[in-house]
Amino acid sequence: MTFDIETSPFVFDGPAPPDDVVGRDIEIAALTDRAMHGRFVLLYAPRRYGKTSLIHRIRRDAHDSNDLAVVLVDFLGVQTIDDLSHRIGQALQSIPPGPFASAVRKLAGRSPEVSAQLGYGPAKIQLKRGEQEAPHLLEELLRLPHQVAEGLDCRALVVMDEFQAVADVSNAEAIIRSTIQHQRDRLSYLFAGSEQSILNTIFADRAAPLYGQAEQFRLGRLPDSALAEFIEEKFSATDRDVGTALPHLLAASRGHPQRAAFLAHQVWQATGPNGTATVETWETAYGEAMARSHHEFVAVESGLETGQRKTARLLAWEEPPYGAAARRLGLPKGTASKALVALERRSLAWRPYGEDLELVDPLFASWIRDRDPRP
Ligand SMILES: Nc1ncnc2c1ncn2[C@@H]1O[C@H](COP(=O)(O)OP(=O)(O)O)[C@@H](O)[C@H]1O
Ligand SMILES: [Mg+2]
Repeated sequence: MTFDIETSPFVFDGPAPPDDVVGRDIEIAALTDRAMHGRFVLLYAPRRYGKTSLIHRIRRDAHDSNDLAVVLVDFLGVQTIDDLSHRIGQALQSIPPGPFASAVRKLAGRSPEVSAQLGYGPAKIQLKRGEQEAPHLLEELLRLPHQVAEGLDCRALVVMDEFQAVADVSNAEAIIRSTIQHQRDRLSYLFAGSEQSILNTIFADRAAPLYGQAEQFRLGRLPDSALAEFIEEKFSATDRDVGTALPHLLAASRGHPQRAAFLAHQVWQATGPNGTATVETWETAYGEAMARSHHEFVAVESGLETGQRKTARLLAWEEPPYGAAARRLGLPKGTASKALVALERRSLAWRPYGEDLELVDPLFASWIRDRDPRP
């Protein structure tokens, strides 16, 4: 038995390597520009649409050009104020080596609590503190990048990824807002997230003028041309040819970045060394992709109420949620409109630029169509 099986060049799990971020030149330029000018920005896109990949790319470019230090905080799943502090501590620890990282370390050393949070202090210090102290630590950590930027006379970008998660922690959002609102002279903030309705609630709050000033950006589909070029290049760099599978792959992906990478990976595997993909290769790859995703789709669907499942079926078939097809499914108007709100809230459905509401995941939509006939 030999071990000459190659690794596919397509990364589809977690953020893409910075050099693999394609079709987002305008977004990269705009977000970098805002970051250089002390702006607050909200970046919205459904899950797996490439927010974190884009942020990593911006961080890499900024680091290479020495323009901007980037602190990248991930708030996914936070439950308590201490969790937020912990995540900021992790973010400060993982700043790429350089003057900013060294200054963070130095400043953190002046506070036992902060340095313990960053893992610098003596390991034995077990911090015992009451509930009132948690917000103070969070504030201290939020102030640290600003102090460092002042000391170095530079500008920094703080990214708060999965920002919608702060809505689950009482008081967190108010602490963040009140601490960062006076930092614009040195810091820019980029808030990224995938639950538009929660983000809207946070950012539309009249009592929260800071967020009200944030400029909003939304990632759209990746253009087919950019995806095609990217996929063709990766295939040829690994001695394969995507051949006539390409148009099928693009049509099935509908510009969904992760789905395109996932399907490209499956086609690449089905093509084999020195091979050229055909329509049959595509069919094998598609079958494999659906088989691999089956459990995920069952889990998604089991979290839906009947009305929501019927509405998802209508969306999958591109039927209007209130027309004759809805009546044939026995879906009353009131139920359908509530279901649409729920699907959108959970980021299962969205409205791409200038288009009608549709299911975010084109593979979930095909899975429904493959199983349930047009209503
Ligand atoms: N601009 C892009 N170019 C190529 N692939 C991308 C791009 N953006 C995202 N992807 C693909 O989508 C996957 C998920 O991206 P990620 O940044 O984790 O999304 P999000 O943070 O929005 O959930 C990546 O692993 C990659 O395969
Ligand atoms: Mg992400």
